[in-house]
Amino acid sequence: MTRKEALDSIKANVENENLVKHMLATEAIMRALARRFGEDEEEWGLTGLLHDIDVELTEGDMSSHSKLGADLARELGASEAMAHAILCHNPTHDISLETELDKALFCVDPLTGLIIAAALVRPDKKLAGLEAKSVKKRFKEKSFAAGADREQISQCSQIGLELDQFIELGLEAMKGVAADLGL
Ligand SMILES: [Fe+2]
Repeated sequence: MTRKEALDSIKANVENENLVKHMLATEAIMRALARRFGEDEEEWGLTGLLHDIDVELTEGDMSSHSKLGADLARELGASEAMAHAILCHNPTHDISLETELDKALFCVDPLTGLIIAAALVRPDKKLAGLEAKSVKKRFKEKSFAAGADREQISQCSQIGLELDQFIELGLEAMKGVAADLGL
């Protein structure tokens, strides 16, 4: 599967631009993590890119969300490892995270929302001037971007990263694709 094929499939299945941006942000952080850990950047990036492809198709049914996504990813040519990471990123299924790829996607997913929200409350609404320490401060404010599950973000410890390192890496990765994110 090429990145273009993955993106074409996303465009065919997802109308909400913010959801597409969330997937692009997830891809960027997954790529940065893969580079840091010497993993396969395409595999990790495309897993992040595709992980929520079924959100509109499943219409909020959390019991089918990510099951359909894993199937769609397989149809596009994703490996079993990629499909498994997509399947278990939805905590509803309570499937244990086995691989580094599973664990990475699980903690990256909510981090994107926290960083986007932290950028949007800035006067310029841009990522460029946002500092990791501000994101960390927001992390501690429980009511801020409450949907960004702090417990899940903290699972970065499972891939050997301190929260500070994880936030910094995620923020830098998202700054690298700021134009695509409209931030
Ligand atoms: Fe997601």
